[in-house]
Amino acid sequence: PPGAQRFIPSDTARLDDLRAAAPGCRGCELHEDATQVVFGRGDVNARVVMVGEQPGDVEDQQGLPFVGPAGRLLRRAVDDAGIDPGQIYLTNAVKHFRFELRGKRRIHQTPDRVHIVACRPWLVAEFALLRPEVIVVLGATAAKALLGPSFRVTQSRGVLMPWPDSAQRARDFPIGPAQALATIHPSAVLRADDREAAYNGLVADLTVAARLLA
Ligand code: URA
Ligand code: SF4
Repeated sequence: PPGAQRFIPSDTARLDDLRAAAPGCRGCELHEDATQVVFGRGDVNARVVMVGEQPGDVEDQQGLPFVGPAGRLLRRAVDDAGIDPGQIYLTNAVKHFRFELRGKRRIHQTPDRVHIVACRPWLVAEFALLRPEVIVVLGATAAKALLGPSFRVTQSRGVLMPWPDSAQRARDFPIGPAQALATIHPSAVLRADDREAAYNGLVADLTVAARLLA
């Protein structure tokens, strides 16, 4: 079957083994045009895992998640929420940059459901090793990967949700018990008409997670 599963080393005990195998993934076509795979980063003992959408242009070039403008904003929000950055592991629902060329510019394209589903085994494998206490779901793509197609971030953001919340979820992501919390993606803050209000909303949501960690 298509998808990342067959590229994931079986009996993996270490994140570094996953990271070493990820460049070989051919689970969907996104590896063809991207510069490189962008795997998660952070301490294996992190209590919080934050899941974004996919690497952006800067991340694709540097090979690290959340090192561009959205990442800078996210780090500031984490700091303002009072979360120790050493407690966070950062990753993405999709691990290759999806874009469209317009002239010389690479324009971000939202991953489709096929990419999210194809790439999900990497996320499952990361979660199985990390076993986070708190899962922060950043934006709609991560929500599709983790919470299902009918989840609406704008309606359910900033609320702690027990994880797993169903037998299906327990099968898809055999981790927990944990708490999941959805919020807007930092890129959405950068695009918002009222950036300050959007930023404050992100910080308020992250503060809910921070209280759990205190
Ligand atoms: N946006 C994401 O979702 N992930 C990144 O790594 C960078 C930007
Ligand atoms: Fe594999 Fe995910 Fe990259 Fe597709 S996006 S090739 S599934 S790592």
